[in-house]
Amino acid sequence: MKPDAVIFDLDGVITDTAHLHFIAWRQVASEIGITIDESFNQQLKGISRMDSLERILVYGGKRTQFSAAEKAALAARKNACYVEALRTLTPHAVLPGITSLLAALRQEGVATGLASVSLNAPTILRALKLASQFDFCADAARLTHSKPDPEIFLAACSGLGVAPECCIGIEDAQAGIDAINACKMTAVGIGAGLQGAQLRLDDTAQLTWSRLHAFWNQQRRAATRCQ
Ligand code: BG6
Ligand code: MG
Repeated sequence: MKPDAVIFDLDGVITDTAHLHFIAWRQVASEIGITIDESFNQQLKGISRMDSLERILVYGGKRTQFSAAEKAALAARKNACYVEALRTLTPHAVLPGITSLLAALRQEGVATGLASVSLNAPTILRALKLASQFDFCADAARLTHSKPDPEIFLAACSGLGVAPECCIGIEDAQAGIDAINACKMTAVGIGAGLQGAQLRLDDTAQLTWSRLHAFWNQQRRAATRCQ
């Protein structure tokens, strides 16, 4: 038994852009008198650009101090810092295990999808030279809800023509794990402190096809026993 598709988050799973997001937000936040640290940044993982800004303003006690136009300008400034940092991205920044997993999935006939809420996802995939490895990338620009809403994972399943119950989703953020579970996919979590992942691995180096395949079969056997 194999899953019909494996659907990946991008930031923190394919490449470590989470840190670059943090550096850019820290810069913009400091310009408006708000100090954020790596620990607070955990709350921004998987959260859209505008929702991230809202969280930062609430954290800094400045939620009501900016007009919609000023917020749009702050978000644009953060994105400019982030896009500048992305210029350094090369295929060397693909996290361990990812390239070989994508190749193995293709060989096994398991479809691959991307479910990133980042509007920069197409640029990042091109910089990593991975764009051709995905059968379908959900378009973040068409989303109405950020993770933990399941919308992006459902869009990826629909684009691939697969049922969510037959797919694995891979995430490094709690919001992403919650989104995967909300659409009844099977959740694989990368990193510490993730609640609700059916399989949790410390890092992407552990993310091999043989491990995912064994895990999938084990889950299916357990589900059959419960019927
Ligand atoms: C997610 C990141 O993948 O994309 C978030 O985990 C980020 O931190 C979000 O805010 C939106 O990214 P972008 O590139 O559209 O600002
Ligand atoms: Mg992520």
